[in-house]
Formats: sequence, C-alpha cells, structure tokens
Amino acid sequence: MKPTRAALRRAAKLLRRGRLVAFPTETVYGLGGDAGSSRAVAAIYAAKSRPGHNPLIVHVADVAAAQRLVRFNDRARALARAFWPGPLTLVLRRRPGVRISRLVARGLDTLAIRVADHKVARALLRATARPLAAPSANRSGRMSPTRAQHVVHALGCRVPLTLDGGPCIVGVESTVVDLAGGRAVLLRPGGVPREAIEAVIGPLAGGGGDARPKSPGQLASHYAPRLPLRLDAPAPRPGEAYLAFGKSPAGLAARSTRNLSPSGDLAAAAANLFAMLRALDRPEFAAIAVAPIPERGLGVAVNDRLRRAAAPRRGAPS
Ligand code: TXA
Ligand code: MG
Repeated sequence: MKPTRAALRRAAKLLRRGRLVAFPTETVYGLGGDAGSSRAVAAIYAAKSRPGHNPLIVHVADVAAAQRLVRFNDRARALARAFWPGPLTLVLRRRPGVRISRLVARGLDTLAIRVADHKVARALLRATARPLAAPSANRSGRMSPTRAQHVVHALGCRVPLTLDGGPCIVGVESTVVDLAGGRAVLLRPGGVPREAIEAVIGPLAGGGGDARPKSPGQLASHYAPRLPLRLDAPAPRPGEAYLAFGKSPAGLAARSTRNLSPSGDLAAAAANLFAMLRALDRPEFAAIAVAPIPERGLGVAVNDRLRRAAAPRRGAPS
C-alpha cells in the first residue's frame, strides 16, 4: 500500500495487535513487529526463516525513545547527535524493566537501537507508539529488499501489509557499532562509513580495518542471489552476467549488464547494489561477475555484502 494516512493507521493497528508490517527505511525495507511482544518477535523469525541466535534491531522514533530503552554513554551521545536519524545502529546495555521481548536480543543484556531517517518509518513509529523490532524484510540468507516489490516477492503472504515508500536511497543496511563494552567495536560496515564514525569518537576496533577484509571462504553466506558470484572481475566470461562499476568494458549486451555507477560514485553503487543483483539473477546466466569496487567509504559496505553473497552456500542452491 502507498503510505497514506489511512494505510499508516491500518499498519499501526496491525502492529499493536502483534501482527507484522514491512516498511521502508533509508537503508533497506524492514520487517517490523512490536518489540514488546514475544509473539510478534517470534513471527518475524518465522517469516524470515531466520536462525534464532541472530538478534534483531529495535527501531525507535527519536533519541529520547532510545534513551528510555538503553543506557547511553558519552560516545553514544556523540554518535546519536552526529548520525541520527540515519543509517547507524548502536548496541548498548538495556535498562532494567523495559518492555522489550527477551527474544529480540536472544537473552543478551544489550539491545541494538536505531533511529531511521525515513518519513514513512518515523510516521509509523509515531502512529504505533511502540518500539519496533525490524530486521531486513527478506528470507534469511537472501538479498535485502530495497523496493516494496522485493518484499512482496520474497515474503508474499507471510506479511499482511507492506508499505511502499519507493526505492531506498542508501541501499545497504545500517552500520552497527557496539558501545556496550570498554571499546567501540564495528560489528557491521554499513550506510555510515567507518571514517565518519572515527572522526567523531576515534578509532574503532573490529570490522576489517585492523585486519584485511575477510575472503568469501571465511564468511557465512548471506545477501545471496541464486546465481554464483565472481568478484573482482574486470570483464565477464562467456555466459556470465556482468555488474560493472565505473567505465564498463565495450561491447557488452544491455540485457546481461548493469552498472552500479558509471561515474564511479560509491554511494550510488550502494543504492543500486541489491536491485541490480536481482535484475541479473536469471537462470539464463551461469554466474554474475562483479567489477572491482574500491575499499573505501561506502565501498567497504558494498564489498562486505558482495563477499558474503559470494561465500560458499550450505545445501544445494535453490
Ligand atoms: O539498516 C538496517 O539496519 C536494517 C533496517 C531494516 O533497519 N535492519 C537490519 O536488521 O539490517 P538485521 O536484523 O538484518 O541486522 C541486525 C544486525 C545483525 O548483524 C545482528 O547480529 C546485530 O544487528 N545485532 C542486533 N542486536 C544485537 C546485539 N544486542 N548485540 C550485537 N549485535 C546485535
Ligand atoms: Mg538482514
């Protein structure tokens, strides 16, 4: 549904009754449920076929709502001021007695919290007046949805209502930073580049900055299209589709080629990533070859998703 006032009212009513609603954020579409309802949270895991050990992000409308759920420290205040609303998730200690289902963080004493920068997400949170648990609205292990049609295609009747807010402008998930311990740790590269976070709170531990980025073989498969991926490919081989970046090789067929950003813009590449992978993920091709993407700025998150998508898959490809 288009996010009209009537649709938002209906969505809020569903959520307050423990049902699920998919909604747009600036990063990817989320599959939302009342974070205070164990029934709703269990329904999110079931709809995604998500393994139970992977905790969910809690979305709130503003910083004040976040502060009611978790204990802020100086670094959290500085990052919230700099990047919220926006594509940043903070892991902080939960306050005792808050009405958040223990299923959200699988018994951990922390919560991952974010204030999304999207008017539909924020209107929905205000209308529902509850924190919403919302992972990306895809089947576990598959590509994240950046259009409402992606959600409907992947989850269909498992979600009673999907709000259509158009394409997501960031296109990769939020950056996740753990501030619950002594050190600030980058848990997932995402829509806010590491450099931007480090400019506010100093060096981050983890996340591939201290070590070299992990190779696909070391990673668990995630964000995967059906076709195999071949990374760092300057050109496609016969039978392959090609995901280019910057200037693409001459003479490629339009049908088998997409370009993440002909001008070499990494933000544009992130915004196009999942939609273009989907467009090329067709059985007529043997694989999707992907051009090299620079490992800086949003390119770090793009490469992280691509490496996971290229990781060996468990079980037969379906
Ligand atoms: O952009 C996004 O973050 C999207 C949109 C919908 O908001 N959401 C999203 O959620 O990507 P999800 O559930 O797919 O990713 C949650 C990430 C996972 O990497 C999870 O392990 C981590 O956050 N996480 C959640 N709670 C945590 C906690 N208490 N401690 C450490 N990591 C946590
Ligand atoms: Mg996800």
